Amino acid sequence: MQPAKTVQMEKGYSKTINSVRQISITSMKTESVVQNIPFVGRKRSLIDDARKERASGSSSPGPSRCDDNFVFEEKEGLVKLNIIFALSNEENAAFFKTGKVFETFEVKLLHIESRPARKLKNSSGCNDLEFFMKCEVHSSDKDIFINSLKRIADSVRTVQEEKVPWFPRKIRDLDKCQLLVTKYDPDIDQDHPGFSDPEYRKRRCFIAELAANYKEGEQLPRVEYTQEEVATWRQVYQNLRSIYPDRACKQFLDGLEQLERECGYGEDSIPQLRDVSAFLKEKTGFQLRPVAGLLSARDFLASLAFRMFQCTQYIRHASAPMHSPEPDCCHELLGHIPMLADKEFAQFSQEIGLASLGASDEDIERLSTLYWFTVEFGLCKQDGTVKAYGAGLLSSYGELIYALSNKPEYKPFNPEETAVQPHQDQTFQPVYFVSESFEDAKLKMRHYSSSIQRPFQVRYDPFTCSLEVLDQPCKVQYALGQIREDLKILHSALEKLGCGLNTEPE
Ligand SMILES: [Fe+2]
Repeated sequence: MQPAKTVQMEKGYSKTINSVRQISITSMKTESVVQNIPFVGRKRSLIDDARKERASGSSSPGPSRCDDNFVFEEKEGLVKLNIIFALSNEENAAFFKTGKVFETFEVKLLHIESRPARKLKNSSGCNDLEFFMKCEVHSSDKDIFINSLKRIADSVRTVQEEKVPWFPRKIRDLDKCQLLVTKYDPDIDQDHPGFSDPEYRKRRCFIAELAANYKEGEQLPRVEYTQEEVATWRQVYQNLRSIYPDRACKQFLDGLEQLERECGYGEDSIPQLRDVSAFLKEKTGFQLRPVAGLLSARDFLASLAFRMFQCTQYIRHASAPMHSPEPDCCHELLGHIPMLADKEFAQFSQEIGLASLGASDEDIERLSTLYWFTVEFGLCKQDGTVKAYGAGLLSSYGELIYALSNKPEYKPFNPEETAVQPHQDQTFQPVYFVSESFEDAKLKMRHYSSSIQRPFQVRYDPFTCSLEVLDQPCKVQYALGQIREDLKILHSALEKLGCGLNTEPE
């Protein structure tokens, strides 16, 4: 038995490398025979993980990220307060005394407003004044600071700052988006094909450790795959490749052909993440990073906002090439990557990620469900027939055939309905959602995302690979200015092409 090895993770997280598991989003099964053979594996489900996080409260960032849950509070040991209190107009001294309290506790004043107090005039006929102050105070001083104010002012009360879960702002912050939530692991799961193979577990541990040590900006680690691993890949590749032409959507087939032509895709070698990431970056701006374990739904979706896709590098056990209970490189490289080479789909994926930033746990669960029924198990109409675009289908020989048979139920993709559809992770899906087109799915998702309650809006800056919170008018104005310049370029391009603005694009 391979002993478990503990690896120190980012800022205090530690995990057992042998127990790491990759992304929940997925169905990795690829049974070779479909008819009348029930699915016997399990699928890691992002939805389950989102649900567990919500139930356990584990999605709240721990001390490794920052010491609070406020999106706009990132300094350790400080808390923001909204305080309202009233002062009598009879004594100006009270106002200055409150200033002394602020000074004593080194409270940083961020915002102040005043208004006539709601109470009736005092006995002298003067209106009391009510103050609203937003300030920042050391967490340890908070209670005594408020009590000190109460000795001077009337009706002292605090207004709760709206809590927003932490989310990454810079691409480097994705190093902190490595929250592992699942214990499921071939060392302890007797159903895992690699359970009784210590050499397999050792190998898997080695590859997972490469990912655990990875930091944003470094070169992606290369894995020298063994002959046995390449043989497994070859079997999966051959089986799936033979059924793609009739079942996969055009975008997938086009992406796969490009990968075969330009990125070394083929049955004889397992593509390296470094090469695939460079390929995707040129096509759609998506990049890859290795992941050491099963990420929380929140962290996985957040990475999509940066056009970053977190990938496993290990491969399924050789004894079961047509089935894997967890995501592996076959699922990532065959199921996901060809679709991420499509600009429309890349945009669709990023927008799900953007919608997840700072969302409530309930919204994360619904977005995970939407991801499940689109990016993992989505179908779409093309030329009058239904084709697959979901990675869970396109990496599963068995379910790809089943999903496009007359057995499952089809429903039109409708985010409000899809987001609450019960999903199946023990067998094939009984229901699939069919989009009219990616454009249609994107527009519907965009409309759905706009209904998610957040006290702010975010915008991705591709130049700095960062997310800007549009919380000030000047930021919105700057963004509008950039859009205006882009429109000028487009207008000029149309003029050079001899087209009017009302001309329908070809
Ligand atoms: Fe997946």
